[in-house]
Amino acid sequence: MSETCLVIEQSLGLNGQAELYGAKNAVLVIMASLILTNGKSRLTNVPRSDDVLQMIKLLRKLGAQVSFYEDEHVLEVDTSTINNFAVGADIMKKMRASVLVMGPLLARFGRADIALPGGCVIGERPINYHVSNFVKMGVDVEIDGEVLRARALKLAASKLVLEYPSVGATENIMMAAVLTPGTTRIINAALEPEVLDLIAVLKKMGAQINLLPPATIEIQGVDQLKPVEHAILFDRLEVGALLVATAITGGQIHIPQAPAYALDIVLMKLGEMGHHIEVGPEEVGIRFKATQSPRAVSFKTAPYPGFPTDLQAPMMAAQCIADGTCVIEETVFENRLLHTRELQKMGAQIKVEHNKAFITGVDELYGTKVIATDIRASCALVAAGLCAQGTTIMTGVHHWRRGYDALEKKLAALGARIECATTETADIAQYSTTAGVWEQIRS
Ligand code: EPZ
Repeated sequence: MSETCLVIEQSLGLNGQAELYGAKNAVLVIMASLILTNGKSRLTNVPRSDDVLQMIKLLRKLGAQVSFYEDEHVLEVDTSTINNFAVGADIMKKMRASVLVMGPLLARFGRADIALPGGCVIGERPINYHVSNFVKMGVDVEIDGEVLRARALKLAASKLVLEYPSVGATENIMMAAVLTPGTTRIINAALEPEVLDLIAVLKKMGAQINLLPPATIEIQGVDQLKPVEHAILFDRLEVGALLVATAITGGQIHIPQAPAYALDIVLMKLGEMGHHIEVGPEEVGIRFKATQSPRAVSFKTAPYPGFPTDLQAPMMAAQCIADGTCVIEETVFENRLLHTRELQKMGAQIKVEHNKAFITGVDELYGTKVIATDIRASCALVAAGLCAQGTTIMTGVHHWRRGYDALEKKLAALGARIECATTETADIAQYSTTAGVWEQIRS
């Protein structure tokens, strides 16, 4: 059965400038936060990714009127007609981030019926931190089969302690607290740049939010929040993807909109590899020139400002052809090393023990058929395909489409030979070096 795939040909020396879209992990939660308001909001820099389309579907199911001007990356959402508080399994199974409407629905209606999100390949992904803190805020929760029914006659301001700085739990309980009278404190909160972008939006709506060191979010509940206009934070994970693609192909790139201030550890590690990095004024904008003899570097993922788990897979691809050995430790998700198997198929020397990958750099990777297992694994395999000899055919393209807005087009503009095809045609397609075009070579 033929399926969509990305066909990637070795493309050394990517070169040029790239523009960014807004961060998936900011826009999804900010779209959910609009449920807290009544009226029309306008978001710009919105990526045309499948997860955004899924969140649009969810908001429409709740009764909102949504217009997405895709070419302009502008989203208009009128929430004055929202009249539903249930999220079915069909929606939740397609996108776990749907759970982020729970806090806003509890604040707006005092109730939320959501299908349990379940896990995914990278981990079990429970929502116990979300639920236990909603219960502390006075929410009655009952599990009815696969549906979680939450009811709250009155939400109560509370001191909420997160045993782990969960991004989603921080966001969900914060969105419940902003309309809850009194002072709510979230101790050990996640402070990822995407969480801070949500806080910026909530404050524009009229929420009273303070950040107290080391990681406490203090919220004074208000009576009402108003619709907003907001430009979504440029995506640091798209920057990471572009930098790794440039590093692994020995090229150079200028990303004028890059939020370098949100990538300190990633830039430090790329610098330790020997790549040359210049950061623009006020830490916005990156000029990157790859070294031709990268050194392997070790790192461990951690909550922000630690090394982001969402760049672990792409950065692993870059280590596969670097000089020396390194250790990559994944501490955020319990099963986020599945891409090592696919990289090994391409010739990478990787040994996995529990949550650690031990990598010995090799001179060459070789194109072959690989399967993307999650959004960020797809990014790692595309990067590996760009430096591998021959042709790489990657299936699991739905992951790529969920997390990025036509990133293959941006890579192609930098000189990458990458195209969307189907496995039926891809088997025989190869890049004709003479004609410089893709052609179906009929065997
Ligand atoms: C967000 O997921 C992101 N998704 C993830 O990006 C990102 O990897 C993750 O944060 C960490 O930065 C969105 O923002 C839509 P967590 P989230 O709650 O909120 C455990 C991507 O590729 N946990 O910080 O689900 C959990 O199992 C995606 O863009 C509990 O045990 O992440 C995990 O091990 C992948 N109980 C750890 O905490 C809970 O109630 C971190 O999860 C909640 C989480």
